[in-house]
Order: sequence, then C-alpha cells, then structure tokens
Amino acid sequence: MSYALTVLYGSVRRDRQGIRAARFIEQQITARGHTPTLIDALELDLPLLDRMYKEYEPGTAPANLESMAKVLKASDGFIVVSGEYNHGIPPALKNMLDHFLEEWLWRPSAIVCYSQGPFGGVRAAMQLRMTLAELGMPSISSLLPVPRVQDAFAEDGTPTDDAWHRRAGRFLDEFDWHVAAQKAQRTIGNPIKGHRNA
Ligand SMILES: Cc1cc2nc3c(=O)[nH]c(=O)nc-3n(C[C@H](O)[C@H](O)[C@H](O)COP(=O)(O)O)c2cc1C
Repeated sequence: MSYALTVLYGSVRRDRQGIRAARFIEQQITARGHTPTLIDALELDLPLLDRMYKEYEPGTAPANLESMAKVLKASDGFIVVSGEYNHGIPPALKNMLDHFLEEWLWRPSAIVCYSQGPFGGVRAAMQLRMTLAELGMPSISSLLPVPRVQDAFAEDGTPTDDAWHRRAGRFLDEFDWHVAAQKAQRTIGNPIKGHRNA
C-alpha cells in the first residue's frame, strides 16, 4: 500500500542543518513506495500567525496557506522534523503547525528530532508530542533522534553511516502501521460530526 506522507521541517535559519535529516527521511519514504511531500518553512514563507487558515472565508486565504492546506488534506500521515532551540521546538515549526487545525485531524504523526550536539533534540521532541496530540495527530511511540545532524547526513540527505537505514526502517515500519490503521478508520468516518476532514 502506498501512502501520501507529508514531511514538515520548520527551521528558517540561513545556516540550518536539519534540512539534511528532512531530506534523508523524505528519501526513505520514497524508497518504501510512498509519496512524500516536504513542507519547508523557509520556502513556505508564512508570516507569524495572524489568521488561521480556517479563519479566512473560503477561497480568500493567501496562496501559501491554500497550497499547504491542499497537501495536508491529501495526507495520510505527518513526519515532523524538529530541531531543539533552548530545549523547545523551533518557532517557525510551531508557527506552521498553529496555522491549521482540522487539516491535521485523524492522521498519525511521527517525530524525527535532531541537534548539533549529542542529545538528538529529544527534549524538544517531548514538548512536540504534546502539541501534536492537541492538534489531533498523536505521535507514534518511537522517535528517530539524530545527534550531531551536521555529521550524520550530507547536504542532500545521504547518511554517512549505513545504520541510519536500519534505524529509519524500524521507525517507518511502526509509522506505516499507524498510517494504515487510521486510513482504514477514516473510511468509516470519525467520532466528531461536522469536521471538515470527516
Ligand atoms: C536559538 C538556538 C537554540 C539552541 N538550543 C539548543 C538546545 O537547547 N539543545 C541543543 O541540543 N541544541 C541547541 N541548539 C543547537 C541546534 O541543535 C543546532 O543549531 C541545530 O542545527 C538547529 O537546527 P537547524 O540548523 O535546523 O535550525 C540551538 C540552536 C539555536 C539556533
């Protein structure tokens, strides 16, 4: 079974490193026969939150919000690639998440966290779990933490150690299971009437 999986990456720093991890996971998803879409906060260029997508009259939202909403609605699951800024998640990532609500619902998420140091961004990942649950896309149990992200992958996402293929394989096996389960459940509806993603 092939799924539409969206990878979210939320660093807009000019010297950013996490794009390496985002590209790696995008490539692993493709290798498993799924269709990934990378949503990159730098390319998306969202302002700090003014109106959420749903607060615009239909057809009047800015083009970047409309195009992102279209991708989210067609997604079967979300992989969130998060760095750690002062033990929290990067502001551009939170900003991107906060612009939407209904568009996330009834799909699972999974967290790839990273840092330049030895801890792999796991402190930010714990906070991110709370936000993802609140947004209706609870995260799977496993994380894919990447310490020293600048050394783990080349600019294009190629891993410097083959063990990353095995680690990502286990992580994505678990994610696929949740994606399949929730996709099947969505065909019979959802427990809250009136949601746009029913
Ligand atoms: C504002 C800021 C705060 C940071 N705080 C942490 C931190 O709390 N823990 C950590 O391991 N690394 C921290 N770092 C280092 C990041 O792990 C490293 O810069 C990483 O590459 C950031 O992701 P990005 O390059 O994709 O933006 C911080 C970096 C920045 C810019």
